[in-house]
Amino acid sequence: MENFDKAVIPEQSLDRDCQTLSRHVLQQFSNFTTEAQDVSSIMNRIALAAKLVSRRLSRAGLMAGVLGFTGETNVQGESVKKMDIYANDVFISVFKQSGLVCRLASEEMEKPYYIPENCPIGRYTLLYDPIDGSSNVDINLNVGSIFSLRQQQGDDLDGEAQDLLQDGDRQIGAGYVLYGPSTVLVYTLGKGVHSFILDPSLGEFILAEENITIPSHGPVYSVNEGNYWQWDESIREYIRYVHRHEGYTSRYSGALVGDFHRILLQGGVFLYPGTVKKPEGKLRLLYESAPLALLAEQAGGQASTGMERLLSVVPDKLHQRTPLVIGSTEDVQLVESFIQDWARRESEQQALV
Ligand code: AHG
Ligand code: MN
Ligand code: MN
Repeated sequence: MENFDKAVIPEQSLDRDCQTLSRHVLQQFSNFTTEAQDVSSIMNRIALAAKLVSRRLSRAGLMAGVLGFTGETNVQGESVKKMDIYANDVFISVFKQSGLVCRLASEEMEKPYYIPENCPIGRYTLLYDPIDGSSNVDINLNVGSIFSLRQQQGDDLDGEAQDLLQDGDRQIGAGYVLYGPSTVLVYTLGKGVHSFILDPSLGEFILAEENITIPSHGPVYSVNEGNYWQWDESIREYIRYVHRHEGYTSRYSGALVGDFHRILLQGGVFLYPGTVKKPEGKLRLLYESAPLALLAEQAGGQASTGMERLLSVVPDKLHQRTPLVIGSTEDVQLVESFIQDWARRESEQQALV
């Protein structure tokens, strides 16, 4: 008979399998307060939404009515995909009758969605992008979901959600789910950034990496260079700089979550600057840029509009767009230096006129 210590292998794998998302969230709090239990339950519901979306995506090509467009356009004027609507509804369903989240605000809904039965107890709002990178859905490439958790301030009697128009530092937590070869959930509650992988055999998100840190510099620059003709000269100068220097490589998937995840783990910079057609860029502040900015800062990186720290931006409408430069500190600062030097030169020239 083989001579080995039977206890060692099962114990190690048991320890690993027990590092579930819900246990990890509770450990982020020093004691079992109501807030700790609420936030843990909210994260569990988000995990359930992620599992439902992941399940549908994994069988999308086999089922009727999953792929393609609905024929509608959303509040941003973008064509809506069937998966956008499915995932949007999943987030609503998992929070119904939960007593947890009073209000949901999403890319796919013009106004916030109230769950009145939760409101007396659940003073939280979840902002989310149900499917990020939806152009990838029909070709079986990676997509994501992004979420941001905020406390509801005041009573919002007119339903206009004015209280959401605050800076990104107000976020209690944020994260994303990446639906790739495996389903990964990355989150922060303001105490570091942690990643979990969905183990399909357990149906649980199991801890993959705690306290992730972004390298201070990385080779990747991630940007849609097809917009070159539409950019300010400062962004063109930056792109010419990376083209002419050794050590840079381009990666762009068309899904912010996937591109950001690569940079979180390996370093580099993602940018979506303003264009002629979209002067504020394409990405939405409250449920795309701000949650990722919180993750970036928590991981020791940076996020900027090019002119200011992204988390300091106060929006004046729910679906506001913002330019985004995010990733490794040195790389974000390099992009900022091009943008800010150009702005300074322009204002000096105007002063001369
Ligand atoms: P969404 O699918 O939620 O509308 O987001 C798509 C976003 C983002 O994921 C990606 O980085 C960017 O749009 C890609 O836009 P371009 O095709 O203009 O590069
Ligand atoms: Mn998106
Ligand atoms: Mn989306």
